[in-house]
Amino acid sequence: MKKGQLLYEGKAKRLYATDHEDILFVEYKDSATAFNGEKKAEIDGKGTYNNRITSLLFERLNEKGIPSHFVEQLSDREQLVRKVDIIPIEVVTRNVAAGSLAKRLGIEEGTELQRTIVEFYYKDDALGDPLITEEHIDILNLASESEVNELYAKALLVNEVLSQFFNEIGVILVDFKLEFGRDAEGNILLADEISPDTCRLWDAETKQKLDKDVFRRDLGSLTEVYEIILNRLGGKTV
Ligand code: C5P
Repeated sequence: MKKGQLLYEGKAKRLYATDHEDILFVEYKDSATAFNGEKKAEIDGKGTYNNRITSLLFERLNEKGIPSHFVEQLSDREQLVRKVDIIPIEVVTRNVAAGSLAKRLGIEEGTELQRTIVEFYYKDDALGDPLITEEHIDILNLASESEVNELYAKALLVNEVLSQFFNEIGVILVDFKLEFGRDAEGNILLADEISPDTCRLWDAETKQKLDKDVFRRDLGSLTEVYEIILNRLGGKTV
């Protein structure tokens, strides 16, 4: 498949057209950003880790009957994905209190939640991705009520599969963010990426942070911990 024109450049990825109408090229960049782009760095190899880890996780979800936009990994940095219109809602699922939940509600980081919770954030950089309710989603016309129910159910399903998967490799899935899109027929498909950039992953024994909090909080080498995740997932070192 031929790589066509650049369609979109985001903080962590570039999207290109292909000679097939419904398929896009995704290229993972080495850029790391946090706090809505306030903190930035180029980290050698980051894009290759996220591409490999995302590919492995989407393959695993697919095997468990949860399809996504992922088609195949092409190279260290590139994937083919199905074209979807991204719904501007970030769906965050949490098993353990951390990050903005710990801060907003004053719950100590690391406290296991009595139940898994799902939150919606409006994907809008200018507004700083605010937390939104189902009624906000309605008045902004971001998704219908049945679509919101589907996002909720799919987030819980992904959580079930990934929590078990990470548990098997000695990692706690603390929380994670998903994005979804609509295909040409209006079907909702899991999209974007699932990587240590978008998940909080803690070593089950030591509680070492193996995710982007290492960059956000200046805790050491980001690629060192991404490599731990890739290796435990059975992926080869970049
Ligand atoms: O910051 P917060 O605690 O709300 O993040 C919850 C989860 O969602 C974390 O795993 C974080 O990495 C992810 N997230 C993300 N992109 C954002 C906001 C949060 O991947 N824009």
